[in-house]
Amino acid sequence: MFITLEGPEGSGKTSHIPYLVEYLREKGYVVFPTREPGGTSIGEQIREVIHDLKNLEMHPRTETLLYQAARAQIVEQVIKPRLADGVIVISDRYYDSTIAYQGYGHQQNLDEVRALVNYATGGLTPDLTILLDLDVEVGLKRKKKNDEEWNRMDAHEVEFYKRVRVGYLEMVKAEAQRWIVVNSDQKWESVQEELKKVLLARIKDES
Ligand code: TMP
Repeated sequence: MFITLEGPEGSGKTSHIPYLVEYLREKGYVVFPTREPGGTSIGEQIREVIHDLKNLEMHPRTETLLYQAARAQIVEQVIKPRLADGVIVISDRYYDSTIAYQGYGHQQNLDEVRALVNYATGGLTPDLTILLDLDVEVGLKRKKKNDEEWNRMDAHEVEFYKRVRVGYLEMVKAEAQRWIVVNSDQKWESVQEELKKVLLARIKDES
């Protein structure tokens, strides 16, 4: 089973994943966590180029292609082989981030972006995607307060992140059976409990 977590800046995805992995392992599942961009040696090198605050001149099309290059590598090198072995793969972001950030955020042509994403993934779609949804301003404040990594992708104007959120919510509407929305504007512990509940229920359904 292939599960992805999505969400805006400050939604807390990254802090939740290690606890979810541990929880599922305690239940006896074999789970492999990974993240995008990154998750492979090539992908981590591409991540540095994309995120480097020195690269402010990067064009949205360059950015879109770099994300796809990192993605093609992780799909072939990490995700597909593990899924073939029956492992549950949980990814911190996947192609929905490209549609939300490069498609909606940067307002690149959505059909073209979808075609690129399809090329990069070879058509591999998640079985379940969880959106940690949060008001944009609340998320950005939270991110600053928690002293999280601050990179080039955090340096856009607020309107950019608002478009990203609209994008996510439209994707949820268009493909409701794949998505579960969890409100991230609650105590961390409450979000974690809800995530555990929905994940376990969905995994049991699939097996
Ligand atoms: P994160 O690791 O803190 O979630 O940061 C990754 C950043 O990269 C975040 O701002 C979202 C962005 N991103 C895209 O814009 N497109 C993509 O395809 C992916 C995977 C991430």
